[in-house]
Amino acid sequence: METRFSAGRMTLRLPEVMETEKGKVIIREMKLSDAEMLLDHIRSHAEEGDKLLIELDEVPRSASQEREFLRIYQSKGRKMLVAVMDGMVVGSADVRMGTMHKTAHTASFGIAVRKGYRGLGIGRAMMEYMMEWAVEHGSKKLWLSVFSTNTNAISFYESLGFREECRKKGQYLVKGEYVDEIVMSMWVE
Ligand SMILES: CC(C)(COP(=O)(O)OP(=O)(O)OC[C@H]1O[C@@H](n2cnc3c(N)ncnc32)[C@H](O)[C@@H]1OP(=O)(O)O)[C@@H](O)C(=O)NCCC(=O)NCCS
Repeated sequence: METRFSAGRMTLRLPEVMETEKGKVIIREMKLSDAEMLLDHIRSHAEEGDKLLIELDEVPRSASQEREFLRIYQSKGRKMLVAVMDGMVVGSADVRMGTMHKTAHTASFGIAVRKGYRGLGIGRAMMEYMMEWAVEHGSKKLWLSVFSTNTNAISFYESLGFREECRKKGQYLVKGEYVDEIVMSMWVE
């Protein structure tokens, strides 16, 4: 079933201090000087393994490499947010609008909240902000992809209104097993 996103419900005003049951988390735009903290964050979810794309030996080796990568978020149609707590990045989310004329109406998303900081509302707050931002910048179709084995993330995206659009069969090979990539999407009203 197709769903539609109604714009105009942005809740965050960045930088935002959000109260959670574990304390205050600051949600703000990523800065290049976050590279070191972001590397630690990426390593933490790369270590978790099978339901996310990146593996530990694919994590950039140095903060300067990561900083170079992060520069793409300074370009038009892209944005990355970080959630910071306890002097650590505990969440990151990014949006990439289509860069060609024929894809400019689309925006795709990525998100990861650190183990131990999940279920606090951080993911929802960041995604809702990013979805609203994409709509304000002209996106008509919001989409993302997720491993078919990542049932928690699928429920999370469904709670935001995304629905499965299609599957790329066996798009990932994880420890000798083929895993489908699920494309989830929603249209903007
Ligand atoms: C998926 C993820 C981003 C959710 O972030 P989060 O901060 O834990 O989510 P929230 O606390 O904001 O939860 C929002 C909603 O998502 C759903 N949800 C979140 N975690 C869930 C889980 N483990 N199982 C089922 N539903 C879940 C709930 O409906 C929740 O609803 P609520 O707001 O009424 O409580 C986070 O668990 C994560 O980073 N996981 C590992 C990385 C990952 O899988 N990233 C996505 C790759 S495609």
